[in-house]
Amino acid sequence: KKGSYDHFMQKEIHEQPHSLTTTMRGRLKDGGILLGGLKEHLRTIRRSRRVVFIGCGTSYNAALAARPFVEELTGIPVTMEVASDLLDRQGPIYREDTAVFVSQSGETADTLLALDYALENGALCVGVTNTVGSTLSRRTHCGVHINAGCEIGVASTKAYTSQIVAMAMMALAIGSDQISTQARRDAIISGLSSLPRNVSEVLKLDVDMKELASSLVDSESLLVFGRGYNYATALEGALKVKEVALMHSEGMLAGEMKHGPLALVDENLPIIVIATRDACFSKQQSVIQQLLSRKGRLIVMCSKGDASAVCPNGSCRVIEVPEVADCLQPVINIIPLQLLAYHLTVLRGFDVDQPRNLAKSVTTQ
Ligand code: UD1
Ligand code: M6R
Repeated sequence: KKGSYDHFMQKEIHEQPHSLTTTMRGRLKDGGILLGGLKEHLRTIRRSRRVVFIGCGTSYNAALAARPFVEELTGIPVTMEVASDLLDRQGPIYREDTAVFVSQSGETADTLLALDYALENGALCVGVTNTVGSTLSRRTHCGVHINAGCEIGVASTKAYTSQIVAMAMMALAIGSDQISTQARRDAIISGLSSLPRNVSEVLKLDVDMKELASSLVDSESLLVFGRGYNYATALEGALKVKEVALMHSEGMLAGEMKHGPLALVDENLPIIVIATRDACFSKQQSVIQQLLSRKGRLIVMCSKGDASAVCPNGSCRVIEVPEVADCLQPVINIIPLQLLAYHLTVLRGFDVDQPRNLAKSVTTQ
């Protein structure tokens, strides 16, 4: 039921303050984290030599968003695998690995085949899924249900933010035996508690994103530059734009700009630069300067109050978002891009909930 909304994607975007609340319900306990599905396995995970994240599409992007804080809070090296590519390469997976499978549906064929492969290789297999009783949930050794509620739109929105929050709780739980990072963990836990309120705040950008969409409706392409915690935001924002608005879009690592993408820059190609506050902020400021000096058509996402810090001469369009704990910022930053993709799709006259050629759950290879 869509209620007062026109489309499921729209409903699911606006539902995020609630879906994130249910993802965290009963799991932030006495200033710590309680994940019932992992507690018996935390010691094994802590002893593993590597965490390998495996998924497809948006679920892969959510894992990519989690990678920096999993490395930081656990000290365990993290590698990333697109499920089909792991299978194509028959890449090495070892008994000492913790393989984390991320899938909204829990039924994606490539992800399940990669699971069979990791099980055969003796890794500890952990699931992160929205679907209780799914094949992924049943076949993994343990895991976390993200409890975002049923997602109907083919474009994944609320599952993405709940996946990131579930993995943040997972990283906090794995790292909870480390005294040196206690203060950092406390700050992230407090950031988690206030996240639904900040998500409600960022959803107020709906009207602005509709207006931005109308200025981009005839563009042929849209680039999104991010780095650090928000490299994943760039990939996921671009995936939303291409899969529902049927517009070419690429998410790129801002650190790679000079190694090719800069050649594309002119006064017509719209480029979104994500430059919210974190350790990479000054690097993003210099990326913006270099793009402006090539007359790039920029839309800059920054933390509230930073408009003049990111764009001193007022020559770019600015999206100001609430600032949260740096590692949780991807949860906030994706939302304006989800809204943008939604409005672009409506304005371009395409089917929002059932994009051309796509299925909600890809059960064939
Ligand atoms: C569980 C209950 C929840 C109840 C809570 C109270 C279920 C599904 N969940 O939640 O209703 O409110 O206890 O204590 O009954 N698992 C996998 N692979 C996955 C996902 C999960 O093996 O991909 C396993 C977990 O290891 C766990 C079980 O499924 O054994 C349930 O996981 P989860 O729902 O995340 O656990 P709780 O949050 O404890
Ligand atoms: O159900 P899963 O999370 O395993 O699905 C993975 C992808 O098929 C899925 O995320 C796809 O990329 C979505 N259409 C993205 O919106």
